[in-house]
Amino acid sequence: MTQESVNKALSTVTYPGFTKDIVTFGFVKDIEIDGDAVCVTVDITSSAPEVAKQIEDECVAALLREGAGDAVIKVNAPKMPRETSSRGKNLAPQVKNFVMVSSGKGGVGKSTSSVNLAIALAMQGKKVGLLDADIYGPNIPRMLGLAGQKPEVESNKVHPLKAFGIEMMSMGSLMEEGQSLIWRGAMVMKAIEQFLRDILWSELDVLVIDMPPGTGDAQLSLAQAIPVTCGITVTTPQQVSLDDSRRSLDMFKKLNIPIAGVIENMSGFISPDTGVEYDIFGKGSTEPMIAEYETELLAEIPIEPGVRIGGDTGAPVTYENPESEVAKRFMKAAEMLWAKIEKIEEEGGVENESIQPTTPPGVSACSTAAAPQQQAPQQSTGGCGTGCGCH
Ligand SMILES: Nc1ncnc2c1ncn2[C@@H]1O[C@H](COP(=O)(O)OP(=O)(O)OP(=O)(O)O)[C@@H](O)[C@H]1O
Ligand SMILES: [Mg+2]
Repeated sequence: MTQESVNKALSTVTYPGFTKDIVTFGFVKDIEIDGDAVCVTVDITSSAPEVAKQIEDECVAALLREGAGDAVIKVNAPKMPRETSSRGKNLAPQVKNFVMVSSGKGGVGKSTSSVNLAIALAMQGKKVGLLDADIYGPNIPRMLGLAGQKPEVESNKVHPLKAFGIEMMSMGSLMEEGQSLIWRGAMVMKAIEQFLRDILWSELDVLVIDMPPGTGDAQLSLAQAIPVTCGITVTTPQQVSLDDSRRSLDMFKKLNIPIAGVIENMSGFISPDTGVEYDIFGKGSTEPMIAEYETELLAEIPIEPGVRIGGDTGAPVTYENPESEVAKRFMKAAEMLWAKIEKIEEEGGVENESIQPTTPPGVSACSTAAAPQQQAPQQSTGGCGTGCGCH
């Protein structure tokens, strides 16, 4: 066999669905000839297995017809695109995965964990967004050094801010600094929906969502607005914190959100001068709870002054001091989280159909009773006064 005779044979093989042949398309990448034995490598653009099979069969037949004694065809096809396996409502379909970072109690380190996990995931090559869903107490802008920075608005949509390789949006970036919000539940729900629908998030591998403490309107609204891939509970080791963390884990179960694991924060204290680890709030006390909910410990994060300073000055420790023990632990937690996300996808993904409001069309799902007008002075059209459009 010669190069010409092989090319002649392969020129008779048309690409399935087209009139052009695979040589003209430039799909034939390599030809090896050894006497009458031929080995051909073909790169194709379709990931459908039947296309690869058809090309292989037709190439073999054409080469044998041309006089080859033996023909081996290697067809390289692109990997099957990952289908998004989530079902139900999704207000941000360009985002592949959503991770909800929650806790039963305030001040345990949700925002710190969200920031450092998001940055760790980005450092591991993922396209990452961070949504500060703590409407009343938005801290993420400061933690990323973005305090006071205003986002760009484009025809009623808002571009996320960017720092440390991640995209970010927060109520804190939309309000004047120091202002407070006094909103009812339904308005929180609207804000959360807008954060997903009206922010111009890129095609993200993962959006990490920093939640307000507890299990309330924000958590339920979010779970109804997007199929949450998995949830993380952040806790500190004291028993009082663990009691509340059980509520957070229980919420994930009730909302059908797979639990990725628990971060035990403020778990011991590493003295900066000696490196000796002291047990302050207790350590390892999370284990029974983790076993009860059949989940895993993603990280034990010690109390370290660098973590607090990093948060206050907008210099997240995972980025600024990657050699520190805390940074290494967040990196490990991010790897475990990503493995869990992949496992959830392989097992069929997530759905939020089962937690959608069941109210029949035309009937308000607002939990407030039809509010008298004087309770809703800000709304001349009646309703509960929250702007949710009810009653
Ligand atoms: N491991 C740690 N070492 C030192 N300081 C920490 C650590 N974790 C959190 N902090 C600090 O504790 C404070 C509270 O943390 P953070 O804001 O992350 O908690 P939170 O759970 O998000 O709070 P909230 O419920 O108010 O949203 C912050 O000042 C933060 O920098
Ligand atoms: Mg917070």
